[in-house]
Amino acid sequence: MKAPLSRYEETDFDLDEQQRQFAEDVAYGLSQPEKRLPCKYIYDDVGSELFSRIMELPEYYPTQCEMEIFDTHKSDLAKIFGHTGFNIVELGAGDGQKTRVLIDELLDRTCDFTYVPLDISEAAVNGISDRFADDFPKLSINGIVSDYFEGLRWLADQNHCRNIVLFLGSTIGNFTPQGRSVFLKNLRRSINTGDLVLIGFDMVKEIDTIVRAYNDSQGVTAAFNQNILRRINSELDADFDLDNFIYYSTWDAVSRAIRSYQVSCCRQEVYVGKIGQTFEFEPWEAVHTESSHKFNEEQIATLADRNGFAIEACYTDADQYYTDCLWRAK
Ligand code: AVI
Repeated sequence: MKAPLSRYEETDFDLDEQQRQFAEDVAYGLSQPEKRLPCKYIYDDVGSELFSRIMELPEYYPTQCEMEIFDTHKSDLAKIFGHTGFNIVELGAGDGQKTRVLIDELLDRTCDFTYVPLDISEAAVNGISDRFADDFPKLSINGIVSDYFEGLRWLADQNHCRNIVLFLGSTIGNFTPQGRSVFLKNLRRSINTGDLVLIGFDMVKEIDTIVRAYNDSQGVTAAFNQNILRRINSELDADFDLDNFIYYSTWDAVSRAIRSYQVSCCRQEVYVGKIGQTFEFEPWEAVHTESSHKFNEEQIATLADRNGFAIEACYTDADQYYTDCLWRAK
């Protein structure tokens, strides 16, 4: 049954604004001929914790590459950042593992700045704020719980000081090409001319290496991806039987992205209480849950230029698997 969206709008459940948006996105995504769910909903406290575990997996090379880049180039970065009067705003800070290297370097140079870790997970923001306060007693920290778009609204109000924005981990690769542009234009509008953005890109490379990174032997990536169904169960009163769905991810050579899915193992119906709707799944029907795009240098240059940034520097790891680019707002 492909239920019409209007069914959701007619329901009268007691939902707060965030739940309403979640319910609306789920109702829409599961009513499409090719079912899909926005990957941002993977990240609640459980999803963020699972992503921290992914970053420690041997197969998940992007984190190791970004660590190597920061270790090698932290002093160049610190010199460009300058000495006083700036915010380091990290969008999607997670557990702050990579940023710690930069913070350490800046504090060693007695730089005067405020670190603003921003994340959708309250547990992640509290965790990073507590750990960094213990480890760096002199660090000024201002943690913020919000999604990227609210975060950019907050950033736009901080135009009285210099802002250096960190957008690491190749999270830019999780946007659609169109969403990526909207986000970067919005980011550019939220900062002043001359402000800096350090942005991580996972590069295109030999396909097996990429595919392995999304199919780890411990099944952490599978659990991370399935967290979206678990959330729909717990927050929208749904009855997804998690054993009836499997994680599947594959390389799409045309769009140069890993595409990830939850695949229904049998014919089944799932009722989502807070939408008041039943969704039918065919055997082996896929629900698209995430795309992880990979980039080349030309694409990065075009993205910077079209969205109002000049490339100040690009840093890569020894294998050239990954690039952190420093962009200056034009
Ligand atoms: C956060 N993001 C860049 C990760 C990625 O590689 O797309 C999320 C992830 N999904 C599976 N593994 C990691």
